[in-house]
Amino acid sequence: MSIEVAVIPAAGRGTRMRPASRVVPKALLTVIDRPAIQYAVEEAARAGAKEAVVVVDLDAGHLVAQHFSIEGPLTGLEDIHLRPVVQEEALGLGHAVNEAAHMVGDRPFFCLLSDNIVRPGHDVLAGLAAGSHDGAVSVMCLRELTQEFLSKYGVVVPASDVEDRYLDLAGAVEKPGPANAPSRLGLVGRYLFTPEVFEILGKLEPGHGGEIQLTDAINELGSRGRLRGYVAEEDLLDVGTPIGLLEASVELGEHEFGEEFKSWLRERAG
Ligand code: UTP
Repeated sequence: MSIEVAVIPAAGRGTRMRPASRVVPKALLTVIDRPAIQYAVEEAARAGAKEAVVVVDLDAGHLVAQHFSIEGPLTGLEDIHLRPVVQEEALGLGHAVNEAAHMVGDRPFFCLLSDNIVRPGHDVLAGLAAGSHDGAVSVMCLRELTQEFLSKYGVVVPASDVEDRYLDLAGAVEKPGPANAPSRLGLVGRYLFTPEVFEILGKLEPGHGGEIQLTDAINELGSRGRLRGYVAEEDLLDVGTPIGLLEASVELGEHEFGEEFKSWLRERAG
């Protein structure tokens, strides 16, 4: 089954990107020649999505919408309809996703964090869709995390072995740290959700850090036995921090500009 709609939360405070994100939202910061969020919309379009519901903050939402519409549709994005929705207060990622509920309705949907970019040639959304039993169960994109990242990501509770990249999941914990981590498999910013996640999100109390946590809703899906994982073959690029943005720019630059840029890099490295 094809997944028609993608939700792209982009209303976070972006404190790790200050001062760049004081006025310009983090999602509009440039990687090579386009804002970070454009990579996510392009990825959703490649996976066949026809609608991108972009969750934006009150101040800058119009800028994000304008980027995609100002001179007509961007090349390659002619077939995907961008629908902004405002999250008035940054109450957490779970809250942001729930703001898209009325636009998604009763459909399964992709969710893409705009501060993660897939490496060229390593799209994962088709893998999530293929494991979803025709959009009947939620499928989380996962990566094996090194020790330091167990305090920075949501970590899942496996309920089966990994077979052909897929496994069943029993739950998830937000940023557990090495001592409490139920596994080393982390949630890495790409998800396929069934619409039942909205019913769960609507009832959630604030969790870790006082925020409405998407991971808590994922945990509930797991306890209902309606959650699978898909272990991606490559990490995503994290452009939500200065060093991550720099590394992503270099890596995508190597891909974009090829030998010319690589030889410049080699000279610099001495
Ligand atoms: P982050 O955890 O990176 O948080 O959000 P942040 O607020 O953007 O950045 P820092 O930690 O202050 O530097 C992950 C994703 O969830 C979105 C963000 O825009 C980002 O794409 N998000 C987070 C929201 O849309 N709303 C929120 O309330 C929180």
